Amino acid sequence: METRILKPNCEEDIAFAGEKLRSGELICIPTETVYGLAADALNPDAVSQIFVVKGRPNDNPLIVHIADFDDIYPLVKYVPEEAKKLAEKFWPGPLTIILPKSDIVPMRTSGGLQTVAVRFPSHPTAQAIIKAAKRPLAAPSANLSGKPSPTEFKYCLEDLDGKIAGIVDGGDCAVGVESTVLTLAEGTPRVLRPGGITVEMLRSVLGEVLVDDAVVHGLAKGATAASPGMKYKHYSPKADITIADMSLDDYIGLMKNNPDCAALCFDGENKYFDNDFVSFGKEYDGKSQANRLFAALNELDEKGFTKVYSRRVQKHGVGLAVFNRLVRSAGFNIIHSDFNLIGLTGTTGSGKSYAAEFFRKAGVPVIDCDAVTKLPNLYNADDFSTVFGSAVKNSDGSLNRRKLAEIAFSVEGGKEKLENITFPIILAKIDEMIEEYKKEGHKLIVLDAPTLFESGLQNRCSRIVVVTADEKIRLERIMKRDRISENEAKLRMHAQRELTDYADAVINTNITRDLTEEINAVLEDFT
Ligand code: TXA
Ligand code: MG
Repeated sequence: METRILKPNCEEDIAFAGEKLRSGELICIPTETVYGLAADALNPDAVSQIFVVKGRPNDNPLIVHIADFDDIYPLVKYVPEEAKKLAEKFWPGPLTIILPKSDIVPMRTSGGLQTVAVRFPSHPTAQAIIKAAKRPLAAPSANLSGKPSPTEFKYCLEDLDGKIAGIVDGGDCAVGVESTVLTLAEGTPRVLRPGGITVEMLRSVLGEVLVDDAVVHGLAKGATAASPGMKYKHYSPKADITIADMSLDDYIGLMKNNPDCAALCFDGENKYFDNDFVSFGKEYDGKSQANRLFAALNELDEKGFTKVYSRRVQKHGVGLAVFNRLVRSAGFNIIHSDFNLIGLTGTTGSGKSYAAEFFRKAGVPVIDCDAVTKLPNLYNADDFSTVFGSAVKNSDGSLNRRKLAEIAFSVEGGKEKLENITFPIILAKIDEMIEEYKKEGHKLIVLDAPTLFESGLQNRCSRIVVVTADEKIRLERIMKRDRISENEAKLRMHAQRELTDYADAVINTNITRDLTEEINAVLEDFT
């Protein structure tokens, strides 16, 4: 079959796509998430072609795409209030809603289920083609079954050229992972597949939202998949991938010990080792990781890598979707370090010390890095006098800390100069303490560090826990604790940055309460 390459902004090409779809043929279309292989959702013969071309198992249902909210009504038995609220907020966009299906949706489309998955994509070309077809379109990701979903035109061409009527060259997909799949068909709303609309965003509209166990852990033996797509080997490049769930420092060590293995790392990290590598977005930035993941998986194959160690990703926000795809591409193959550090940090007044107590109660030692900085005899006056002058020395040769602070904070760049001297000394002391705990047999230690990121200590941690509280509450706490004015407290608070984006777990202490359960969840995440 001759496959026509279609231009996204060409009316004639859009009309061609619409006509072909109406007559039961297949068109590969761009969406904001990944490319989709589209057919008339209400025509069982057309839908059958999708399964043949992709090599997709017959019981794996398809998502039906619409280009107007009202087009959901004929497809489902009823539209609950929750669906309307979600649509209002997130449609058009990367959210798929599952509801009991109406009779016009063929069993072929729903994979034999009595429910149907509906999505209103935001991509203008996808919308234009749905409208031109005058039909709802069933469209799975356009990859051959088992391969990573295509986020670039070239991968669609590679898989589908010669097999379907047309492929739209729509450039790269913005989100990069497939839509969030949420079922409203059975009790409490439940996420079956995480995606660009995050669990946190769904909760902000619906309140309680569950996350299916299979999202993070894979399907338990003998269990039925709520979303049949979850049970198949998925997103698999040919390379054998292992997720190295460890700190950046340990990962660097791992790569150096395995010079023949390739790295699937974050942007810029290749400077730490000589291994071959592909990078997939920025560390602590789920959005950029989602955007790059599938292209990166495809690149591993293009470069012919066979054994790959991947960096870990954080499981919150869009990161959960990245983890869900990555762990499947790795066949759930995850390795850990024997010894782990948890970085505990938070803005001033957030209740960090309060949270630290719960780690101690759980038997995990906590190193209070702030206390380390205040240890007597930690510093030598000579370490500072060469940079800040002999005024920082007392007459007996000891360090005058007050004078040092006065001078350092009054000169331009003084704070950095000061930290360049103090951080290595503090880190050496912390190292010493870590070694002591290790000798005692501890495998896990918490570093309570207000300047976790400024000191570079985050690179040694395999988890980051951030403690927060609302601004008003923190303000009151600081004023009370340090007996300072509101203005002074505000100044201190604003000198620190928002940390929650960097967290594996966020602990909110607005209400003083028992944190045992949350702390245990962090500790159990290592198993
Ligand atoms: O972003 C997306 O959703 C992309 C673009 C093209 O729109 N499409 C996509 O489709 O990812 P696909 O077929 O690759 O994934 C659909 C997922 C599968 O895991 C499938 O099992 C699940 O949604 N699904 C579809 N209908 C379902 C239903 N009625 N009940 C449970 N799961 C369903
Ligand atoms: Mg797919």
